[in-house]
Amino acid sequence: MLKGKDLISIHDLSADEVFEILDCAANLKVMQKNNIPHQFLKGKTLGMIFEKSSTRTRVSFEVGIFQLGGTGLFLSNKDLQLGRGEPIKDTARVLSRYLDGIMIRTYGHDRILELAKYSDVPVINGLSDLLHPCQVLTDLLTIREHKGKNFRSLKMAYVGDGNNMTNSYLYGAAKVGMNLTVATPQKYEPNALVFEQALTDAEETKAELVWTENPVDAVKDADIIATDTWASMGQEAEHDERKKIFAPYQVNAELLKHASKNAIVLHCLPAYRGEEITDEVFENNAHVIFEEAENRLHTQKAIMALTMAD
Ligand code: CP
Ligand code: NVA
Repeated sequence: MLKGKDLISIHDLSADEVFEILDCAANLKVMQKNNIPHQFLKGKTLGMIFEKSSTRTRVSFEVGIFQLGGTGLFLSNKDLQLGRGEPIKDTARVLSRYLDGIMIRTYGHDRILELAKYSDVPVINGLSDLLHPCQVLTDLLTIREHKGKNFRSLKMAYVGDGNNMTNSYLYGAAKVGMNLTVATPQKYEPNALVFEQALTDAEETKAELVWTENPVDAVKDADIIATDTWASMGQEAEHDERKKIFAPYQVNAELLKHASKNAIVLHCLPAYRGEEITDEVFENNAHVIFEEAENRLHTQKAIMALTMAD
C-alpha cells in the first residue's frame, strides 16, 4: 500500500497504513533480535539531509538502511550546495537520479513538501518545525508493546509545549482511535489547522482529542504521559522565557499522582531534566524511554522497507 509513497505526515496515511507500519516494525524487530536475514533493500541507497542536529534519527536511519541491505548517505546542509542557496527543487531532481529514497530533517515544513513535489523517489520526514511523524509512529509501537493492541481503550496525555511532537501525536491518536488530552499554556497550543484536521480524522475512530490549559486535568487517569523539550531546535533564544512560562507543566511525581496507577511516561529525547521532566520520573521510566528510542530503528526500517522496496 505504501510502495513508492512519501512519509511526510501521519494525516496523509490511512489507519490501515498506520497499522501496516506498526505490524511491519514489530516483525522487523523480531527478525533483528533473532538474526533472521531481512535484506529487503539490497543495493538501495537512502540520502539523509540534515539541516538540524540529530542523534537518534541520524544513527537509526543509517543503521536501519544498512541492516536492510542498503547504504545511507549523511548529507549535511553545511556540505551540500543546498546550504549555499541551491534551490530545494533542483536538489530534489538531482538526488532523485542517484538515490532510492530521501530522508530530510529541516525547519520549515514547506521545504519537505517542495522536496517531495520535485522528487521521483519517496521522501521521509525526519522532523520539521511542524511535525515529527517517525517519532510518533515509533511511540505508537512502544505504547502497543506496553499497553496492548487496543488503542481505543487508552487515554494519553501530552504535557508541555504544543510543538511538532504534539501535532504528530494529534494526527496519530486520531488515526488509531486513542483518546488524547494535550495540556499547554495559552499561546503555546498545538497548530490550529493540525488540530482541526485531527478532529476530522477522529470522527471515524471516535478518538477524543482535547486541549486544556490544566496539566492535572490532562493527566487524570491517563495510561500514557508524554512530554518534550520546552524549547525546540530553533527556539534556543527563547529558552529562559519558556522555562518560566512552562514551569507548571513539568512532568514530576506530584503530577503523576493523578495518572492511572500503571501509567508509563514517554519522552522522544533529548530530555532536559529539571525542566520538562524530573530526574526521578525520567529514571523511573528509563526502561520505556530507551525502548522507545530503540524502536526508532525498527519503525523507520518498516517505513523504508514499505516505501522503498521494488
Ligand atoms: N527524538 C529524536 O528525533 O532525536 P534526535 O533529535 O536525536 O534525532
Ligand atoms: N520538539 C523537539 C523534538 C526533538 C526530537 C525539537 O523539534 O527540537
